[in-house]
Amino acid sequence: MASIHLKNLKKTFGQHVAVADLTLDVAEGQFVVLLGPSGCGKTTTLNCIAGLEAPTSGRVLFDDTDVTGLPPHARNIAMVFQSALLYPHLNARANIEMSLRHSGMTADQVKSRVAGVVSMLRVDHLLDKRPSALSGGERQRVALAKAIVREPSVFLMDEPFSALDAALRNSLRAELVHLQKTLNVTTIFVTHDQVEAMTMGDVIVVMNNANVEQVGSPDEIYNNPQTKFVAGFIGSPPMNFFEGAFKSENDRLTFHTGDMALSVPDALRAKLDGSIEALTSVGIRPQHIRIVDAGTDGGINMEVYAVEHLGKETVIILQSEAGDAYRVLTDPGFKAAVGERVALAPDLAHAHVF
Ligand SMILES: Nc1ncnc2c1ncn2[C@@H]1O[C@H](COP(=O)(O)OP(=O)(O)OP(=O)(O)O)[C@@H](O)[C@H]1O
Ligand SMILES: [Mg+2]
Repeated sequence: MASIHLKNLKKTFGQHVAVADLTLDVAEGQFVVLLGPSGCGKTTTLNCIAGLEAPTSGRVLFDDTDVTGLPPHARNIAMVFQSALLYPHLNARANIEMSLRHSGMTADQVKSRVAGVVSMLRVDHLLDKRPSALSGGERQRVALAKAIVREPSVFLMDEPFSALDAALRNSLRAELVHLQKTLNVTTIFVTHDQVEAMTMGDVIVVMNNANVEQVGSPDEIYNNPQTKFVAGFIGSPPMNFFEGAFKSENDRLTFHTGDMALSVPDALRAKLDGSIEALTSVGIRPQHIRIVDAGTDGGINMEVYAVEHLGKETVIILQSEAGDAYRVLTDPGFKAAVGERVALAPDLAHAHVF
């Protein structure tokens, strides 16, 4: 096992900054997810940790050892990529055993190590098959077995499930978390899928545009987003934003957005400090907005743009007069017709202010 420490990691490609200045501590046995949109620098960061890329500046430490200049094979890591890297001419067993070829283990030791791992990943019945005869999920499980069998100090995974269908992703997610917790191997997992990040990570590192936006547990990231980017990126359907300003008149605090003035409840008033009068962005999640009749006091008039039935709930997409879209989560029985005039009533007690 190992802890991982990135100190002011920077990577540029010519003029292009792929990772600006990343400092991160990953504790031994932790499952850390690098999450962010395409091109934000996730793979570059992972490759620097693996030794596949040399950082432009900054350092990578495993425990107290500076590994910045070490090649990948000297780092005791195992990597799993988006498409399983298996030798096509070898069957699954030979592919998995490959990982142990320089380990100095006897044939019997290899056999027993492999047996343990393949039964854990439930690929025992696939060992005689070549990769071309395996399904995507089976190939990915064999690739995981190949990585795990080496008993590395660190797992590095770059979107290993992205080529798989939703059901497979779901089951592999649970298997990987179970495995990681059982083996207690320090793991860094890259994804642009917030569901994957939220369900698997002990800690999520939200990246955007070569920078870290926030580091925190799934709970912290969801309930206490530090930036508007994090607030809008995490949560599905996404958070709604209202642009406007807080105004204080005769001891009454209101939030003005468009031509509406909404009364500010004490729960939100307590969170505001100094941002009164300044233009702000107020974020409210879809579950904290109600749809009321058009013209209702405290409601913002909108038109129903689309209705999405998700089974256990329904998402109503509303459009403001300015053409902005807002999403509201309702009970599955909620009836709304496209084009209908309604009003949206946000619960400001649950507002996030940016
Ligand atoms: N070898 C390279 N040469 C030049 N630019 C590169 C190179 N590798 C990455 N980049 C650039 O660096 C930025 C970060 O790339 P990176 O692959 O780390 O993104 P990512 O977050 O993994 O994205 P994705 O989710 O699409 O895989 C991108 O703008 C990319 O174009
Ligand atoms: Mg990538």
